[in-house]
Amino acid sequence: DWSMGAFRQEEIARIRAKVGSGKVVCGLSGGVDSSVAAVLLHEAIGDQLTCIFVDHGLLRGGEAEQVVSTFRDRFNIKLIHRDASDLFLGALAGVTDPELKRKTIGRLFVEVFEEEQAKLGGADFLAQGTLYPDVIESVSATGGPSVTIKSHHNVGGLPEHMRMQLVEPLRELFKDEVRALGRELGVPENIVGRHPFPGPGLAIRIPGEVTREKVAILQKADAIFLEEIRNSGLYDAIWQAFVVLLPVRTVGVMGDGRTYDQACALRAVTSTDGMTADVYPFDIAFLSRVSNRIVNEVRGINRVTYDVTSKPPGTIEWE
Ligand code: XMP
Repeated sequence: DWSMGAFRQEEIARIRAKVGSGKVVCGLSGGVDSSVAAVLLHEAIGDQLTCIFVDHGLLRGGEAEQVVSTFRDRFNIKLIHRDASDLFLGALAGVTDPELKRKTIGRLFVEVFEEEQAKLGGADFLAQGTLYPDVIESVSATGGPSVTIKSHHNVGGLPEHMRMQLVEPLRELFKDEVRALGRELGVPENIVGRHPFPGPGLAIRIPGEVTREKVAILQKADAIFLEEIRNSGLYDAIWQAFVVLLPVRTVGVMGDGRTYDQACALRAVTSTDGMTADVYPFDIAFLSRVSNRIVNEVRGINRVTYDVTSKPPGTIEWE
């Protein structure tokens, strides 16, 4: 891609000019944006960059390992992997309010990030994979008469006392452009083409209290849904797909017995920027297959529903 090749070179020059010989830390989540930002920064400034991956234990199954192997082993990027799942799940005990969940996770995220950064002896710059739509959404959420619908923990979340300068190399780009830049930089397709994933992770896909057991159940159901989507060749046609574990128990039958387990909802939408979204029109045979697999393979779930709400009026995530 000619334009992305040019952008890459310009942005590398801009990063070098801004950072000089300074030290940069970058939060890595495994998502497209922070991954592309990290690889671009690494190309620009090499070992002046350290990535910090705060693992809150609320990622999809197997993703933490994938982040570490991709960035540390394949790209040779200096990477700190902090497993903080006990801390996050402990703080979330008893928390059911969606905004309080987000705030709790956002606050801990900053605390743990700062702790790790302090261990490094500080840094001069903080890099973030902020995109253009993030910039607009956070401006409209604070500057205008519109209300904040959900507090995103990855935008504008920098506390006053973290007096580092920001480096935001993707600030002018839309998602599809970030993906093109990632391909240009050789970021693997399984990361570049990955669906967006929210900072607070699975916590906002478990209405009600989040527990380690519920996270494990959700990870299993979610893996089945995504596997079926990939096997059917639908992954790239969908903006986001995931399972929500509902705080509702319903009666079912299994073999000779009665079950009384949790229900879940499948969510899959098409979108170009996440600001509006339409329901993905799966055929019923696909949905039935996913439902059968989840109910048969995941202990703790005995009922599967499909969320057919568009955005607006719904949001993509349930919390
Ligand atoms: P909603 O649910 O508001 O989500 O329709 C729009 C898009 O934003 C993602 N999302 C987040 N991303 N931190 C993020 O990085 C967050 O706190 C957050 N909350 C929602 C959501 O997955 C969808 O792509």
